[in-house]
Amino acid sequence: MANTTTTNPYLAGNYAPVTEEVTAHDLPVSGELPDALVGTLLRDGPNPYGPVDAATHHWFLGDGMVHGIRIESGRAAWYRNRWVRTPDLAARSGLAAPAASPMNVTIGGSGAVNVLAHQGRILACGEVGLPYELTPELDTVGQVDFGGTVGTNITAHPKVDPVTGELLAFGYDFGPTNLRYHRISPDGVAVQTEVIDTPGPTMMHDFGVTATRIVFMDLPVVFDLELLGRGMPYRWDPTYGARLGVMPRDGSNADVVWIEIEPCYVFHPLNAHDDGDRIVMDVVRHPTMFASSPIGPREPTPPTLDRWVIDPVAGTVTETRLDDRPQEFPRIDERRTGRPHRFGYAVELPGGNDAFDTAGIVKQDLATGTSVVHAVGAGRMASEAVFVPAGPDAAEDEGWLLAPVYDRATDRSDVIVLDARDLAADPVATIHLPVRIPFGFHGSWVPSP
Ligand SMILES: [Fe+2]
Repeated sequence: MANTTTTNPYLAGNYAPVTEEVTAHDLPVSGELPDALVGTLLRDGPNPYGPVDAATHHWFLGDGMVHGIRIESGRAAWYRNRWVRTPDLAARSGLAAPAASPMNVTIGGSGAVNVLAHQGRILACGEVGLPYELTPELDTVGQVDFGGTVGTNITAHPKVDPVTGELLAFGYDFGPTNLRYHRISPDGVAVQTEVIDTPGPTMMHDFGVTATRIVFMDLPVVFDLELLGRGMPYRWDPTYGARLGVMPRDGSNADVVWIEIEPCYVFHPLNAHDDGDRIVMDVVRHPTMFASSPIGPREPTPPTLDRWVIDPVAGTVTETRLDDRPQEFPRIDERRTGRPHRFGYAVELPGGNDAFDTAGIVKQDLATGTSVVHAVGAGRMASEAVFVPAGPDAAEDEGWLLAPVYDRATDRSDVIVLDARDLAADPVATIHLPVRIPFGFHGSWVPSP
């Protein structure tokens, strides 16, 4: 299956799924792992089990697989990759089924997009469905319904408020009720669920969160039933319009202020924060998405880093280009989630939307308007970098960036550890994995003693 077809780019090279679950201990390391790095780097992405239809397969589709690299005492203690055990996967594969799911949800979901921790509980999240809880060693515990309080979809980008410990989430359902917002308490129970009205079902992958407000992005990538089974069932439709919805975090549908913007698509904000009544929200902005084919996102014009200044009182959004270099997978120091941020990190995509060709890691200094790139070398391709602070009181960029890097020559991956304050330097350490981590989406650092 892997590396054998050239007709579908998402089944070739490092997009191709891997076919084995691997456990490896005491991984070789070049350089020196900082003693302060004690925890596990987690990565999530689709990794279809068994054959898929090359005519319709899309990067966003398939069973979820989580990869983990455990670091402690200056050593890389282990690497594991595990499929997320969903009932659907168990039925097809013979792999062990998860514990009984707590309730029937609209769509089961694959847990294939993002993995994060909320109050110590590791959650593998998909675009739809409910998250799956994993053990620290990546075994699937079962689906999470937040103590029976959430029975509908949650997307892959819930956000942990670093001050309150709340988990803020939303989901979309493809139907007349498209959008729901959930505010989940630090002890993992939804204390609020709101249905938010939108004109139609759109793909709403992520949202903005400030210390006080939510920003929904209702953008013109519309659900199209006729495209089901032909890649992603979405198409670009600028006639739908494009709007941002600002709502207090404890507000409801009646409180949402919708503001029209120029049609565009945003998978990922870098961050958002309050500025008086206004909201500053930095985003990776695509001029179009799924405009040419449901096998996107190879669009004619690549994405840029832009700033939206949203004024819900005046009903305006001011758009400014921060960096016109193609980039995606923006991340911050998550101690700044919803608060003003100075630094941002992303994967630079010099080949535009031809994804990961010769990508490096870019660091933005938004105070000075400067940036620096860590080039990963010819034939090597970086995935999303995760920032790990050097300690609880460390400054905003005082810490490390951890990123998987695929090496085409060896067909294996490394994990590089960069000093976030000196991105141009060689990695502080490079962990050499025995296998490759396919290009997936998102991950997290889970600190642990
Ligand atoms: Fe995402």
